[in-house]
Amino acid sequence: MPTNAARKSARLSVAPMMDWTDRHCRYLHRLLSKETLLYTEMVTAPALVRGQALHLLAFSPAEHPIALQLGGSDPEELAKAAKLGAAEGYDEINLNVGCPSDRVQSGTFGAVLMKEPGLVAECCAAMIEAVDIEVTVKCRIGVDDQDPQTVLPEFLSRISAAGVSRFAIHARKAWLQGLSPKENREVPPLDYGLAVAMKGLFPALHLSINGGISSLDQAEAFLDAGMDGVMFGRAAYHNPADVLCVADRRIFGSDAPDAAPEAAVQAMLPYIEAHLTTGGRLHQITRHMLGLFAGRPGARAWRRTLSESATRSDAGPELVLEALACVQ
Ligand SMILES: Cc1cc2nc3c(=O)[nH]c(=O)nc-3n(C[C@H](O)[C@H](O)[C@H](O)COP(=O)(O)O)c2cc1C
Repeated sequence: MPTNAARKSARLSVAPMMDWTDRHCRYLHRLLSKETLLYTEMVTAPALVRGQALHLLAFSPAEHPIALQLGGSDPEELAKAAKLGAAEGYDEINLNVGCPSDRVQSGTFGAVLMKEPGLVAECCAAMIEAVDIEVTVKCRIGVDDQDPQTVLPEFLSRISAAGVSRFAIHARKAWLQGLSPKENREVPPLDYGLAVAMKGLFPALHLSINGGISSLDQAEAFLDAGMDGVMFGRAAYHNPADVLCVADRRIFGSDAPDAAPEAAVQAMLPYIEAHLTTGGRLHQITRHMLGLFAGRPGARAWRRTLSESATRSDAGPELVLEALACVQ
């Protein structure tokens, strides 16, 4: 039976974001919220299974609950990749059916799979058979000239028949030709109404809504409207304090004091030390910390101090303390 840790935390999640939600970013986010579900960047099944790139799976135990997002479209290969993820200790395996980038299209991964629900169902069934943790899907409402009103319910119906009962819906179409991945996160209009309507059609499914959500007020409104979860992408990355520091109290009902970004910075120092000791560079971690004080006095000096100097080969924790002094 799947564990419930990830499902419970899916009331609020930070989306998979390539190059952004790496292990350093997730370690920081976990200091800000104990409850929020964190997703990895997409890792492709071929990289794990054919490329033996097992280092892509590494994470800190502190990051739980954590979901591994996989990309791929070969059921057998995805099953093997899911097994590797489960063995590594992930709490959930998520299949990417939303990412429109060219590289991803060429391997038949991501959003193009919205056109092949039968294959997605096979992939999910194979992964469910292979692992004991929950298998979930992140999808769009449709692609290209598909009609989301018919495609999305059909997709949810077919994939849930294969055993998936939790989905994150990025509430806009993806255009597979002519738009960059960035434009595909901005240009196709959002249709929140359709995503919310799916909850009425599929009350037994756990449905999270994603796309353009920028505040916890907005997230709470979606939960009040019946959604089971809200997934934040860019807002959580660029302004993690406003989303994550208060999430445990506001979204999960915790009575613990809210996390403070200053305390998170202090708590990052030993992690940074350990990273530098193993040959890592400061900016690999601090690039994810630039938004920590967004909107607060000193935020600009914090960002500037880190972004100007953290790439220096001798930069270390003292630079982070110097930057922190700008906001205190
Ligand atoms: C830099 C970046 C990388 C992304 N990489 C992935 C990815 O690897 N897998 C995926 O399913 N979605 C990816 N996305 C899409 C996000 O998960 C999310 O669906 C999208 O940003 C919409 O949410 P938002 O408006 O809250 O940012 C990425 C988004 C960004 C900004």
